[in-house]
Amino acid sequence: MSETVLRVPSGAPVRPVPAPPAGRPAVRLTRVSKWFGTAGRQTVLEDVSLTVRRGEFLCVLGASGCGKSTLLNLVAGLDRPSAGDIDVSGGRRPALMFQEHALFPWLTAGRNIELALRLRGVPRRERREEALRLLELVRLKGAYGKRIHELSGGMRQRVALARALAQDGDVLLMDEPFAALDAITRDVLHEELARIWSERGLSVVFVTHNVREAVRLGRRVVLLSSRPGRIVGEWSAGDAPEAALTATITDALRKEIRRHGRR
Ligand SMILES: Nc1ncnc2c1ncn2[C@@H]1O[C@H](COP(=O)(O)OP(=O)(O)OP(=O)(O)O)[C@@H](O)[C@H]1O
Ligand SMILES: [Mg+2]
Repeated sequence: MSETVLRVPSGAPVRPVPAPPAGRPAVRLTRVSKWFGTAGRQTVLEDVSLTVRRGEFLCVLGASGCGKSTLLNLVAGLDRPSAGDIDVSGGRRPALMFQEHALFPWLTAGRNIELALRLRGVPRRERREEALRLLELVRLKGAYGKRIHELSGGMRQRVALARALAQDGDVLLMDEPFAALDAITRDVLHEELARIWSERGLSVVFVTHNVREAVRLGRRVVLLSSRPGRIVGEWSAGDAPEAALTATITDALRKEIRRHGRR
């Protein structure tokens, strides 16, 4: 399979480079830092090194404001690191799903998905069928002609997920996509996402401040500290039973929040 890499060295534009050797990770961050401003610069991320394996479901956990969205935006190529390198394998940019659905309200659910397909270069005659297939995948078969305001919050996030999948990237970046949903809807969507992840063999980076969500979904969980954001902990799904892992990580997150509060 021929493949290209989007390499994002600090200060340089995203550009395709030659095919990587087999077994290359889906995403690799090497000593990435990000700061904003010049005078009195604010360092948001400091020296973050992280590898996302192909087909892995990685959760990035951290308190509000610690730099999670900044990190995802860098991987998505929406911004550039101030220092360090980011490699994303696969020819396409990663798909990004935001906390808010960010769907176009003047288009129907189906048309929102078709727009993503169009941007991907899918021919017009194939778009409708593909949009219907994606809606079926997220269990929203009847929603093709519905306007966004006619859909519930959970349904909107399903459409947003279908739109992200329409981009057909190997890497799916998710920025607290279910944070605004009630607990039951969120649980259902967790199951759906886990199913789609395993069916499609995606590499997922899922950002959240919710420990339970991170432990439930992630094969691996990394904890980001605040100001600056650094990786201060890492756990794998097999390390301990879910409840014990949740307790351990909650403890680590609380310590991190307390430590940050004291400064
Ligand atoms: N473009 C920017 N210019 C200046 N500061 C920024 C910019 N983007 C983010 N920041 C700052 O970086 C810090 C981290 O923001 P970020 O949105 O990444 O946090 P987060 O972990 O996603 O928070 P939340 O959980 O609330 O979404 C914040 O202090 C924010 O003010
Ligand atoms: Mg955020």
